[in-house]
Amino acid sequence: METIARLHIDTFELTLRDIREVDPKLLHALSVSVGWPHRDNDWQMLLDLGQGLAAVDEIGRVVGTVMWLRYGADFAMVCMLITLPRLQEQGAGRWLMEKAHELNEGAVFGLNATREAKRLYRSLGYGYEQKILRCQGEARPEAFASGMAMHPVKVEGLIRAAAASDRESLLRLDLAATGYDRSIAYQALLPVSRGQVLVRNDEIVAFSLCRPFGRGHVIGPIIAASEDDAIAVSRAHVVAHAGSFLRADTPASNTAFTNFLVGSGMQIHDSATSMAFGRAPFKPLTPAGPRRIALASQAIG
Ligand SMILES: CC(C)(COP(=O)(O)OP(=O)(O)OC[C@H]1O[C@@H](n2cnc3c(N)ncnc32)[C@H](O)[C@@H]1OP(=O)(O)O)[C@@H](O)C(=O)NCCC(=O)NCCS
Repeated sequence: METIARLHIDTFELTLRDIREVDPKLLHALSVSVGWPHRDNDWQMLLDLGQGLAAVDEIGRVVGTVMWLRYGADFAMVCMLITLPRLQEQGAGRWLMEKAHELNEGAVFGLNATREAKRLYRSLGYGYEQKILRCQGEARPEAFASGMAMHPVKVEGLIRAAAASDRESLLRLDLAATGYDRSIAYQALLPVSRGQVLVRNDEIVAFSLCRPFGRGHVIGPIIAASEDDAIAVSRAHVVAHAGSFLRADTPASNTAFTNFLVGSGMQIHDSATSMAFGRAPFKPLTPAGPRRIALASQAIG
């Protein structure tokens, strides 16, 4: 294996390797060591989608990682920055980030920061902060239905299951919502997701995907021009997963959608901060047009 760089920390000598060259089981063990829910398959999806680096110690243990997914020519979504708890606060996280920046020179960088990492990213120059709520819990569609009786949400149009032939419409909506060509992400998401679309005047105007992730399923991405449309395309997923673990990550500004999630059994469990370096990430092409109501995941954005 080719050595990319070396770092001495304490008594450790760390070597940087291409993340695809290390045993995926060691990557999983590292994310478990910081309490993250990713399964082998969640790691595999990211390895298929992006690139990254693994810091390996003298006896081959993976003690740090960073990945990035390229959307279009100039955007890098940074994710999976992890260092082994016993190695933290000694510079390994910063070292990994600096290498990721070097290898993506000239790109705009986006990421979703945990509480632990926010200070580090700020000190690296990241800004454009936006709060993202992680809502999760046992799906309870009946709870939302009883709330609906008091506050009905009416949406015009037809809601149906997404079909393979909808792919181009979904990509068009995602591009309008984010400003980036994320077709590479959809190549990985669509085969493992079930989708719902909202059709109005013969055109798909909103959609949601739902797939296995971590302890259960995640609803995301959801792209819609309004929170009511987003709720309309999400209900079927809550019903399909009644009684089991469901998660969605949504910008905190989406209060109606967050109320829908909480009312459906997904409590606000934690928050992350969307941050960027160079330029604001994921800007809708038109202010009143489609936007991201839920993320595909914190890693994918
Ligand atoms: C977030 C995380 C990756 C940071 O990794 P790390 O190895 O601790 O990162 P660093 O040591 O480079 O930097 C952390 C802080 O320690 C400080 N530090 C660095 N070297 C130090 C040293 N020798 N002595 C004391 N402090 C030091 C840094 O200044 C930095 O503080 P700052 O943010 O104010 O600049 C790590 O805590 C982690 O894996 N957490 C769990 C997973 C996670 O949340 N990942 C982030 C995903 S967005």
